[in-house]
Amino acid sequence: MDVIRSVGALRATLAEVRRGGGRVGLVPTMGCLHDGHLSLIRRAAADCDAVVVSVFVNPTQFNDPADLAAYPRDEDTDVALASGAGATIVFTPGVDEMYPNGFATTVRITGALTETLEGAVRGPDHFWGVATVVTKLFAMVQPDVAYFGQKDAQQCVVVGRLVADLNLPVELVICPTVREADGLAMSSRNVRLDEHDRKQALGLVEGLDAATTVIRAGEADASVVAAVVTKTLLGRGVDPDYVAVVDAETLAPLSRIDRRAIIAIAAPIGRVRLIDNIVVEPLGD
Ligand code: PAF
Repeated sequence: MDVIRSVGALRATLAEVRRGGGRVGLVPTMGCLHDGHLSLIRRAAADCDAVVVSVFVNPTQFNDPADLAAYPRDEDTDVALASGAGATIVFTPGVDEMYPNGFATTVRITGALTETLEGAVRGPDHFWGVATVVTKLFAMVQPDVAYFGQKDAQQCVVVGRLVADLNLPVELVICPTVREADGLAMSSRNVRLDEHDRKQALGLVEGLDAATTVIRAGEADASVVAAVVTKTLLGRGVDPDYVAVVDAETLAPLSRIDRRAIIAIAAPIGRVRLIDNIVVEPLGD
């Protein structure tokens, strides 16, 4: 497995793969790899001849400099884990390689997709930062297929819009959220939870489980479902930034769950903000 830091070296290595007719997969990450990332890398390794795992803590998607500074980084462990899961290249450019002097372009997805949910809390420029770096990674790697995790549900919808709007020749594969044994969604931020936070964090998955239970029992009123989730969170001492029931494609708020929907939660827990979600199908008549 190669560890590559420059775009030139990346292109030269991938040109060889392509000459042999190889299929290239990309797993974009910000490092601190956990089982969620590894599931994406394993899936990519099963589908592709070469798997590029990018490890780049992207400054343009952080609205809080303290959050950027505190974001966990551990390159040696990431390289070992990526290699073990089947990566063939770890691409880990420095900030100067990604955003050289004079860099002046931003990819903006306008409207509700980037203004709602995380965009409402962090500002739409969070997703512009994601869209810009993902576009650059697609241009650098030119993957046949790129893998994203459902845990970042809004990011998946935004990247889908980006690929459609700019006619980017890449197939997107969205993989299910990977959870700890107790249900907590895997996240690089989980390492910053202490024992007390860790217990509180279970409120997120408990809230989503409670939503699943009432929906299965026939509840389709989105405000009732959201109230059940909020009550569960408050019961764990978690005060959410939002509990939202939205259309899975447009992210528009729903009053009834009469189409494919996402139930999304974000909440501050200890020193971090956690997000989680489930996708729910409407009950048949
Ligand atoms: O999901 C992430 O880790 C990041 O948002 C991504 C897609 C790697 C872009 O920096």
